[in-house]
Amino acid sequence: MSAMILDGKALADQIRAEIAEEVGRFKEASGIVPALAVILVGENPASQVYVRNKEMACQKAGIESLMYRLDQDTTTADLLDLIRKLNQDAKVHGILVQLPLPKGIEEKEILDAIDPSKDVDAFHPENVGLISQGRPRFLPCTPYGIQQMLVRYNIETDGKHAVIVGRSDIVGKPMALLLVQKAVGANATVSIAHSRTKNLPEITRTADILIVAIGKANFLTADMVKPGAVVIDVGMNRIEVGSTDENGNPIKVKKLVGDVDFDSVKEVASAITPVPGGVGPLTVTMLLLNTLNSAKNSVR
Ligand code: GUN
Repeated sequence: MSAMILDGKALADQIRAEIAEEVGRFKEASGIVPALAVILVGENPASQVYVRNKEMACQKAGIESLMYRLDQDTTTADLLDLIRKLNQDAKVHGILVQLPLPKGIEEKEILDAIDPSKDVDAFHPENVGLISQGRPRFLPCTPYGIQQMLVRYNIETDGKHAVIVGRSDIVGKPMALLLVQKAVGANATVSIAHSRTKNLPEITRTADILIVAIGKANFLTADMVKPGAVVIDVGMNRIEVGSTDENGNPIKVKKLVGDVDFDSVKEVASAITPVPGGVGPLTVTMLLLNTLNSAKNSVR
């Protein structure tokens, strides 16, 4: 039997409609337009697509997006100046610096400079600490989106074994922090596996919920999955695959694939996210929600 497809796009559309309504009510009541500043440094093609998606999603939700597109040769000092300016601008409620930053820019120094009350990515150490203690100011967008997907699809997490493959600061570590909390959509037994884990398939096969975020195309195969497991694919890998042109000649085309070998794993799992159309749309959705909540907090 084939797994249920967890439709992140449909779910994101539904949650974004809820957010847009709430943005409308908030604007009406307060006269304030929630605003998100997005900073993109350099020409990374994937980042350009992500940033454009964020900009369009803001517009549709009634959130103002302030775009800062900076040259590849921007210095750490230039970027710090811009962040300080945005920190002080009362009209800006969220500040997001798109990662990765070009080599030569001190990423940690930049993220640490963002006012924690405007840190809608939840990357600032103060916000990470608050999450860790179970009293979050913001929840990190991708883990938050995944948790919403589990909750809204009625996937039980309480007492389940969640195995996270990947230990990044953006996904793996904060995902573990969220799922281990004493809370709805959490209370899981959590394991984090990574590139140095021994006997990875043995561990992933014990997962009731398997979240894969390691950035390797089609890495997780059916033999690594317990029958009936829920599989969440956070990967976004652009690979070249063979195809044919209109005359039948072989050509290479770019394709977006996840970290999960979807075609084999869907025959073993009970539920699975596709790529694209799985986790990605929810990440952007939670960014909108964090920006709205930050604007609300600014008038408290
Ligand atoms: N690059 C990849 N994912 C993210 C994210 O969630 N936030 C930011 N700022 N950059 C990213």
